[in-house]
Amino acid sequence: MKVFYKYKELNVVKKKYTTKSIGLVPTMGALHEGHLTLVNKALEDNDLVLVSIFVNPTQFDNENDLKNYPKTLESDLSKLQTLGENIWVYAPEADDLYSNKIEPKAYNFGKLETTMEGAHREGHFQGVATVVQKLFEALQPTVAYFGEKDYQQLQIITALVKQENIPVIIIPCPIIRHEDGLAMSSRNKRLNIKERAMAPIIYETLQKAVALKDIHSPPQIESWITEFFALHPEFYLEYFSIADIQTLEKVSALNGSKMRAFIAIKLGGVRLIDNIKF
Ligand code: PAJ
Repeated sequence: MKVFYKYKELNVVKKKYTTKSIGLVPTMGALHEGHLTLVNKALEDNDLVLVSIFVNPTQFDNENDLKNYPKTLESDLSKLQTLGENIWVYAPEADDLYSNKIEPKAYNFGKLETTMEGAHREGHFQGVATVVQKLFEALQPTVAYFGEKDYQQLQIITALVKQENIPVIIIPCPIIRHEDGLAMSSRNKRLNIKERAMAPIIYETLQKAVALKDIHSPPQIESWITEFFALHPEFYLEYFSIADIQTLEKVSALNGSKMRAFIAIKLGGVRLIDNIKF
């Protein structure tokens, strides 16, 4: 494993190798099994795997969230070290990617970015797209891996490479869960013991929603979920949406389009997201 703090230094070393394919796994660190599964998949597919660890300021709409984002570089590096030798970590400071202008670029992703996460986190996807484009340009991977945990982000990145003609293949990776069903996330650590014990209800509810699909319409299922969480005041439901997997627009009937159900919910003070194939 090698660690670089400047992409230009990484590229100097990269030039000496005649690697066939380079896989990139962009992360913000605080690595867990979900991230490591992406890295393992990239190792299976590529000669060299780059893992970026960078808490990107332009995708946070809240100063405190950015300040409190866990920074655990040493333990991240030791986790990656166990996975294989062909991993190069890129862990820059903001100026390496942004020079002295830490601002998002302006993109137009249409409805893809005004729904769900986009509606609840102002400017979030502009910031995500900005940093991902910068990472692609700086590191020039052949393929890049993104988790379906952040399904809307995956769709935004897919739109980004198309719009900007970026020659990187995007590989979606399935959601990795704890044994009790809770989707892995660095935020799970912020749940207290009682909240952590309740958190699997989120995935159980998504599964129940899928089980209801033959007898109820999507709007009926959405009402059922809203009522269910109204009876569980520990949770605060931000949205539940059964949507088309391409456009992410809500669907009102099972019309043959491919769908997923998406949820964002607060438990204690912790905002969690999840989704399921519908
Ligand atoms: P981060 O939240 O660190 O996630 C990095 C990648 O890991 C994303 O593609 C995310 O979808 C994936 N991931 C996280 N938890 C997962 C899980 N339980 N199962 C499967 N994949 C999971 O997403 C970001 O960082 C940033 O927005 C980034 C793309 C790096 C841009 O800053």
